[in-house]
Amino acid sequence: MGNESFSKVFPDIIQDDEIFDEERKEAIFKGIGGYRNLEHLYDSAIKTLTMRFEILNQEFKVKYERNPIHHIEARIKSARSIINKLKDRDYEVSLESAKTNLNDIGGVRVVCCYIDDVYKVEEMILNQKDITLIERQDYIKEPNYNGYRSLHLDVSVPVYLSDRTEYVTCEVQLRTVAMDFWASLEHDLRYKTNRKIPEEMGREMREAADRIAEIDEEMQQLYKKMETLS
Ligand code: GTP
Ligand code: MG
Repeated sequence: MGNESFSKVFPDIIQDDEIFDEERKEAIFKGIGGYRNLEHLYDSAIKTLTMRFEILNQEFKVKYERNPIHHIEARIKSARSIINKLKDRDYEVSLESAKTNLNDIGGVRVVCCYIDDVYKVEEMILNQKDITLIERQDYIKEPNYNGYRSLHLDVSVPVYLSDRTEYVTCEVQLRTVAMDFWASLEHDLRYKTNRKIPEEMGREMREAADRIAEIDEEMQQLYKKMETLS
C-alpha cells in the first residue's frame, strides 16, 4: 500500500498519549498517504457488496414479485474509531495493522423483511464464487446476553483496481426490520447513558428484545399463511 515508512514510524508517534490528543492523532492518521488508498479500498468493497445485494433483491422481485431486502446501509469506520479499536485491543496503530486486524472497517447492514429472508439472502451472497466467508456469528439462533439479534458475516470481497485485485474483508450484518428496530434504539440508549445501561434496564431491554422476536416470528408465520392463500 506504499506506506512502509509509515508503519515503522507512525506507531511510535501515535501511541504517545502525552503529546497528542484525539483530534491530533486522527489528523495524523488521516494525513498518511496510504490512508486515502485504504479509504478508497474499503469504500469500493462496500459499494461492491451493496451492489451485489441490490442485484439479488431485484432478481428476487422479478422472480417472486417481492423484495426480501427492506433496505441496505453501508459505512466506513472513521479514522478515530479505527485508532480507538486498535488501541483497545492492543494492536499496533498503523494502516497495515488496521487492515489485518479489523474486519469491520467496511460494514454493510442488510435489513430484511422476514427471518427466513435473512438466511435466503445469506445463502445467495455466499453462493457467489468470488466472495469468501471468513467468520460467521449467528446472533439470531443464539442472541447476545442483552438480547441483540443479527447474523454477522465477515466476508472477503475482490476489489478490481487498475493494476491488481485486492481482497478486502468487510462485516455484513443481516437482520430483520424488527431486529433493526431494537438494535437501533439500544444503540441510541447506550450512547445516551454513556455506554452503561443499569442492570434493571438491561433486563427490561432483554425482555423487550424477546417480545420483539416473538412478534417477528408471528409476522413470519402470517406471511407463510398469506402465501398459501395466493
Ligand atoms: P469484531 O471483531 O469487532 O467483529 O468483534 P466481535 O466479533 O466480538 O463483534 P460482533 O461481530 O459481535 O459485533 C460487531 C458489531 O455488531 C458492532 O459494532 C455493532 O454494530 C453490532 N452489535 C454487536 N452487539 C451489539 C449490541 O448489543 N447492540 C447493538 N445495537 N449492536 C451490536
Ligand atoms: Mg464480528
